[in-house]
Amino acid sequence: AELELIKIVEDESLPEAKKIKLRSVQENIDTRVAVQGWIHRLRIQKGFAFITLRDGSGYIQAVLTGDLAKAKSTQELTLESTVIIKGVINKLPEGKTAPGGVELKADFYKIVGLAPGGEEAFSNKVQEKADPSLLLDQRHLALRGETLSAVMKVRASLLKAVRRVYDEEGFTEVTPPCMVQTQVEGGSTLFKMDYYGEEAFLTQSSQLYLETCLPSLGDVYCIQESFRAEKSHTRRHLSEYTHIESEMGFLEFDDMLAHIEKLITKTVQYVLEDPVSGPLIKQLNPDFVPPSMPFRRMEYIHALDWLNEHGIPNEDGEKFKFGDDIAEAAERKMTDAIGEPILLIRFPVEIKSFYMQKCSDDPRVTESVDVLMPNVGEITGGSMRTYDHDELVAAMKREKLDIDAYYWFIDQRKYGTCPHGGYGLGTERILAWLCDRFTVRDCSLYPRFTGRCKP
Ligand code: 4AD
Repeated sequence: AELELIKIVEDESLPEAKKIKLRSVQENIDTRVAVQGWIHRLRIQKGFAFITLRDGSGYIQAVLTGDLAKAKSTQELTLESTVIIKGVINKLPEGKTAPGGVELKADFYKIVGLAPGGEEAFSNKVQEKADPSLLLDQRHLALRGETLSAVMKVRASLLKAVRRVYDEEGFTEVTPPCMVQTQVEGGSTLFKMDYYGEEAFLTQSSQLYLETCLPSLGDVYCIQESFRAEKSHTRRHLSEYTHIESEMGFLEFDDMLAHIEKLITKTVQYVLEDPVSGPLIKQLNPDFVPPSMPFRRMEYIHALDWLNEHGIPNEDGEKFKFGDDIAEAAERKMTDAIGEPILLIRFPVEIKSFYMQKCSDDPRVTESVDVLMPNVGEITGGSMRTYDHDELVAAMKREKLDIDAYYWFIDQRKYGTCPHGGYGLGTERILAWLCDRFTVRDCSLYPRFTGRCKP
């Protein structure tokens, strides 16, 4: 009862507190500051309360002593409550540890929003060992955790780095539509929708639209959501993912391969150099080895030899033969065993998309590439495009595509065609590789996959 009498009042004689974000703690040592955020960790002892505060830009440990620690409101604080804390930031003495090597000696605090305790307490909602699907129901809360928020920071840094590399290479960013009436990667994974009474789809890839930009803008790229109604539940498939795609004109297959390895290598370099994401990758993936150029090139046909020599069977449990798809499991076994980035090239016509250019020295295979990374497998798929009008139309007819719906795409081969090619990178797949996540679901803000469209 005695505790209740303690009223927390600010000492007006203290210097005015400087309002800061937690990312700038180091520049404000020995300064009286006001910090605002969520209670990330909490330890209440006799005479002391330790609050680790989080504001999305960083963490700080605040120490409450004396009356501040004894007050009833302090004794009743809960995780994820929001507070404003004022006090002086001190460097920690040798031997003590806290985020950033500092401590905020609190002289005043105020509660902004008290979170529930007991049954409804945050720690009961989000438990690290909980069933993954329960955790996904609580994604809006789980995102507050250190691992997920770190991955999201790396994600932001990755997108920034990709844009920087494209900018250095002179590419123009465009924003193609997500609602479309054409397919790119096969009808079986199309999400259909009603578009004012017409049939439309959610885009599977912006490739065809990027191709139309070459004559007006030159080399282009986009960072856009792609949608795939994947029936399979795998650790690397999402129904919606962030697709980084680019298209380049007047180049040859080898130029494109060189461009892809440069883009990946430089992007990773920038992400590692970034003062926010660099240390986060160290924390999430301490053994990460940045890729170095040139990447190993491997032809599809030689991959089959490798798989057969290592006793890895195809999907039917047999030896691989020309024309077989190298499915996820086999692909991953090979990539993990080789342990370095691979540019897998020259896939057979029959297992690749209608638009791919055939190799001039062997028309059974295409100028196509998958980039494979240890622990994830394919992170990028690309190819040179068939640029001859009649050959393209014939391929589309073989695939039973409605030629009329693609008139605008086919026009590119009519009004000044040129050799060109491009590729798509799965943002969540690159992140799974960079951040060493088991599944791409951990790399998407609100993952969408079979049976999951909430929150
Ligand atoms: O190999 P994909 O299907 O290629 C294309 O869509 C081309 N049209 C791209 C282009 O040339 N512009 O997809 C490209 C990449 C894959 O390598 C993978 O990283 C990612 O997109 N991806 C997925 N990521 C998550 N979930 C899925 N369901 C994905 N499907 C493809």
